[in-house]
Amino acid sequence: MTATTFTSTVKLTKDWARLFSRNTQQWQQFAANFDVHTVQLDPAFIKSIQAFQLAEQSEGKRLMAIAQQYAARHNAPDYVKAIQQFIGEEQRHADYLSRVLHVNGAGTLTKQWTDSVFRHLRKLVGPEMMLSLLLMAEIIAIAYYSSLARASQDPQAKQLFERILQDETTHIQFHCEYMTRSTPLLDSLRWSAQRVFLGLVTIVIWLDHSHVLKHRFSSVFQMMDYCNHLLTKCMRTALSAS
Ligand SMILES: [Fe+2]
Ligand SMILES: [Fe+2]
Repeated sequence: MTATTFTSTVKLTKDWARLFSRNTQQWQQFAANFDVHTVQLDPAFIKSIQAFQLAEQSEGKRLMAIAQQYAARHNAPDYVKAIQQFIGEEQRHADYLSRVLHVNGAGTLTKQWTDSVFRHLRKLVGPEMMLSLLLMAEIIAIAYYSSLARASQDPQAKQLFERILQDETTHIQFHCEYMTRSTPLLDSLRWSAQRVFLGLVTIVIWLDHSHVLKHRFSSVFQMMDYCNHLLTKCMRTALSAS
């Protein structure tokens, strides 16, 4: 199984653009040896995969606008390019999931309630909160794809979910390194609020996807512990990157 930890190595923005470019090349190599037509999804997981496919699907217009604000505010012009590449990676996930769903006789969704809530929230927030939302989405994605890879019997399906998981592990570190610092008190309040919100999101995701998640987590509490652990690592990364 692909490692689901991220290092606390601090990288410059320029390195992220290069890292995303290298990742694109790795996906090209992956695609050359991967036939989506042979992927067999477990029918019990299709509805769940459809929901995550929709969550991966985004034009990223709002995110690009936010990235431009962030780059101007923090004098980080390369951030915009890195975010563009990040959006490309999420679209690639959506595309692969869509193709394997169609191969397995299932379509894609256009609406799903948790996705609608998340999209609505994204319209309301500024750069810092947007980063917090993205971070939470990545933490949940890591918990989900690692469970899905473990749960899947078909080797091709397992391989695809592990490849997506590898990207999500990179994404969490990317967002963590751009979390900005304020005063110690405000930082502490913000991380505490994020921890509470992450707990709530974990419960909601568990309610809809426990049949997948239980292949890795024995209970929602164990999943919450794991997500909290990732958030703590992120907090340390954010502190060392500032
Ligand atoms: Fe993704
Ligand atoms: Fe991601």
